[in-house]
Amino acid sequence: YGISGSTNVQGEEVKKLDVLANDLFINMLKSSYTTCLLVSEENDTVIEVETEKQGKYIVCFDPLDGSSNIDCLVSIGSIFSIYKKDSTSKPDVSDALKPGREIVAAGYALYGSATMVVISIGAGPVNGFMLDPAIGEFILTDPDMKIKPRGKIYSINEGYESQWDEAVKKYVQSKKFPQNGKAYGARYVGSMVADVHRTLKYGGIFMYPATKDAPRGKLRLLYEGNPMAYIIEKAGGLASTGKMAILDVQPQQIHERVPVFMGSSEDVQELLAFHQQN
Ligand code: AHM
Ligand code: MG
Repeated sequence: YGISGSTNVQGEEVKKLDVLANDLFINMLKSSYTTCLLVSEENDTVIEVETEKQGKYIVCFDPLDGSSNIDCLVSIGSIFSIYKKDSTSKPDVSDALKPGREIVAAGYALYGSATMVVISIGAGPVNGFMLDPAIGEFILTDPDMKIKPRGKIYSINEGYESQWDEAVKKYVQSKKFPQNGKAYGARYVGSMVADVHRTLKYGGIFMYPATKDAPRGKLRLLYEGNPMAYIIEKAGGLASTGKMAILDVQPQQIHERVPVFMGSSEDVQELLAFHQQN
């Protein structure tokens, strides 16, 4: 996008990558005959699948997350969660407003130094599959992924420090100036999938707290907070809003936002202790 303006050499319209990803997601999900209702970050309202193509699953997705990183070639990802419709009624928005505890499968794809899909289904483990471009298949390279109980990395957009609440300020301060032990390292890609995947692989904590400008945080519950929380919890970690488990939040609107603290259980518990004190 951008090299030859909005048309390519064939004179066709060139779509921005996030719009293209959204069209692909919607077309593939509809033509799978397995879904009845879709929620996409890119669409204001729910998308109802044509009756003749309907199946029993509801999918909430962010087709291409990390939009600020697209044009500079930094890692981006796709995120999704899947719910099963529990009645035979005509699908409507209420079918998508379910707490993350009711997710039947969720995961993400990360487009980084390799392409990887991380997914968990039902009572099963978290499995990571890496794309082998030579054969065009995803290979199970990371079976039964588990997150360390404690890491050495904190991840947050530190530019907004003046807008954090006291708990987050004090927690981050304690990681930079520990009373005993070594200071934590800081990492922040700015693509949630990359930041959470690193947290899953190396341990530590990823945070996108509420700020004064965004009192509910920035990340969206249905297709950012919930699917990532589902993966992190199943890998043995914790995912919280600061007040409760992300997966227990009852959504009121499809695009609602939620503060996010997720990662190694001891690191998240330590952060939560600061919330309780403040
Ligand atoms: P997007 O859906 O517009 O891409 O925004 C979501 C992204 C997340 O991937 C990332 O964690 C966050 O925005 C970064 O936001 P900020 O630039 O405020 O740190
Ligand atoms: Mg997003």
